[in-house]
Amino acid sequence: VSAEDVVFSTSDRPGAAETAALFRSAGLNRPVHDLDRIERMIGGANLIVTARLNGKLVGIARSITDFSYACYLSDLAVDGLLQKQGIGRNLIAITREQLGPEVMLLLLSAPGAMSYYPRAGFTKNERAFWIERER
Ligand SMILES: CC(C)(COP(=O)(O)OP(=O)(O)OC[C@H]1O[C@@H](n2cnc3c(N)ncnc32)[C@H](O)[C@@H]1OP(=O)(O)O)[C@@H](O)C(=O)NCCC(=O)NCCS
Repeated sequence: VSAEDVVFSTSDRPGAAETAALFRSAGLNRPVHDLDRIERMIGGANLIVTARLNGKLVGIARSITDFSYACYLSDLAVDGLLQKQGIGRNLIAITREQLGPEVMLLLLSAPGAMSYYPRAGFTKNERAFWIERER
């Protein structure tokens, strides 16, 4: 499968089922068995970049931002068959384009992506703290 014909969008609201299918295909640990929660994740986000190939959702960058100071990139996922072809890089680039120079982009890496983010332009931060969700 080739990533050449992938179409990116910042105005596309993906459905819960296709988003869950993408998280599964990417191997991203998200509540894919709870479509209502996935629906709320999409509805509550205010910056979503999608990647589609022949209409099929093959990539997503889902963020929450004020478009002024900070942005949290919660989910970055690329279809398992299309990884390492630049789709993730494009999703991040388009997210950054939407945010502009005043906005800090923050994320938590999945275990398997720890060596990806330094290459994608992110700096590791030893001062990050969190309170984990309970479920
Ligand atoms: C991590 C992920 C989003 C990257 O997207 P992608 O489209 O595969 O990545 P790109 O093609 O844009 O990759 C850019 C570079 O990073 C490398 N890379 C891709 N995935 C990587 C990984 N998991 N670890 C280390 N390097 C990785 C690519 O080989 C490429 O290297 P190059 O610049 O030398 O050619 C995607 O692989 C994915 O969905 N992985 C599973 C889910 C996940 O871990 N998501 C992150 C959650 S925080």
